[in-house]
Amino acid sequence: MNLVSLDQALAWDVKKTRQEYKNHLNPVFVQMLTLLSYDRRFVKAEGVYVWDDKGEKYLDFLGAFGALSLGHNHPRVIEAVNKVNQLPNYLQVNTNAVAAALAHNLAEIMPGELEHSFFCNSGAEAVEGALKLARIATGKEKLISTLGAFHGKSMGALSVTGKESYQRPFQPLVPQVEQVPYGDLESMEKALAAKDVAAVILEPIQGEGGVILPPADYLPQVRQLCNKYQALLILDEIQTGLGRTGYNFACEHDKVVPDIICLAKALSGGVMPIGSFSTTKDLWNKAYGTTDKYLLHTSTFGGNTRAAAAGLETISILVEEELAHQSREKGQHLLNKLLPMVGKYPILKAVRGRGLMIGLEFHPQQANLANKLSGGMVDKLAQEFTGALVQGEMLNKHRIISGFTLNNPNVIRLEPPLTVSYEDLDYVADALENIISHNKGFLNAAFGSAKTTLNSLFKRS
Ligand SMILES: Cc1ncc(COP(=O)(O)O)c(C=O)c1O
Repeated sequence: MNLVSLDQALAWDVKKTRQEYKNHLNPVFVQMLTLLSYDRRFVKAEGVYVWDDKGEKYLDFLGAFGALSLGHNHPRVIEAVNKVNQLPNYLQVNTNAVAAALAHNLAEIMPGELEHSFFCNSGAEAVEGALKLARIATGKEKLISTLGAFHGKSMGALSVTGKESYQRPFQPLVPQVEQVPYGDLESMEKALAAKDVAAVILEPIQGEGGVILPPADYLPQVRQLCNKYQALLILDEIQTGLGRTGYNFACEHDKVVPDIICLAKALSGGVMPIGSFSTTKDLWNKAYGTTDKYLLHTSTFGGNTRAAAAGLETISILVEEELAHQSREKGQHLLNKLLPMVGKYPILKAVRGRGLMIGLEFHPQQANLANKLSGGMVDKLAQEFTGALVQGEMLNKHRIISGFTLNNPNVIRLEPPLTVSYEDLDYVADALENIISHNKGFLNAAFGSAKTTLNSLFKRS
């Protein structure tokens, strides 16, 4: 047996780590990182910044897909976790004051009367719990979600995720799910009309779909339709929640109160894995309010002391530092810088967002010369992943970490910590302008270097 110690793992260089990934984790992930020249060995993270082993400093504008609202390793959150490290983290035979306090505080900041919460460990689990609650509380089966939605990849969450290529290999999924176009009220009403729907699940802004904002009156109208046809409204605020879009919850922008809110990502300041769904007393009691039902939905790790302590401190910081307000002002500042670039640079198709959840959509590019060399493979990359190539350029030339959206890789999302400085926002806007104003040169270079890895990648599939 050849067991590796933590100290040995911490001393591994990128090459060794890649090898172990290839042998024991996901080999194609490593190939893609190499292709886009992403992989680094990061040795330190603090606030908006991370440092590699060569001492280079990077700006993290991906923020773990929105989980790092407070930045990396916020000292107050780390301290809160340390403060409880002598307590039992899980015991299961008692009530836990720290989890109870987090549920209390969530009820304080939630819109409406969403005062009962359930804790789990990820976004997908939060969605699973919300869908189950909708079915058990209403006694109905049907669920409606939207095309382009992303709700996670476990079986139930995947069933309501609106991307066919993620779903196809795993059929049959959870039955009785209908998907309608996001923003289309007519299709929504048709799907609800038979009054057989347990719940509609929506993101207030579609994140992985490409930072898609719905039409202005969409959420309030969907709320009314749900009332009219006696369906619950679940809002998946896993990415939009806790200040990201300029409000504590994105639904507050539209003054809509759902029946269930799902959270995860930023809920513990990016320090511990956590997820939750919150609902009304009435719905909770309908679902799990009797002795034969109170244990129908449980989680071993859900509500553990350390994650709950991190959550408590995160909410305190969110409220004390008025991060939602900061996000609104900083997001507007960044949008004001980025919006004039649309029209000015042909590669940039659109810029959109709310608060510090901003998407830049790029026109798919033709790879020209490099493509001829790779028998069409580079063109495939160019058309589907132009955003990813811009992202690579941001990292390699300007030391900015960003990410493309999962369901639409031609969109780059900027989701920096809400504590980001105006100076860093300006730096990123200037870097983007620098890249897209020279787009021909960088695309050809990127496609050229991508050729070899690409060929082997596509041959395999
Ligand atoms: C809106 C939304 N819902 C659900 C999820 C799934 O969360 P997790 O990856 O923690 O399962 C995500 C993750 O990106 C998300 O953005």
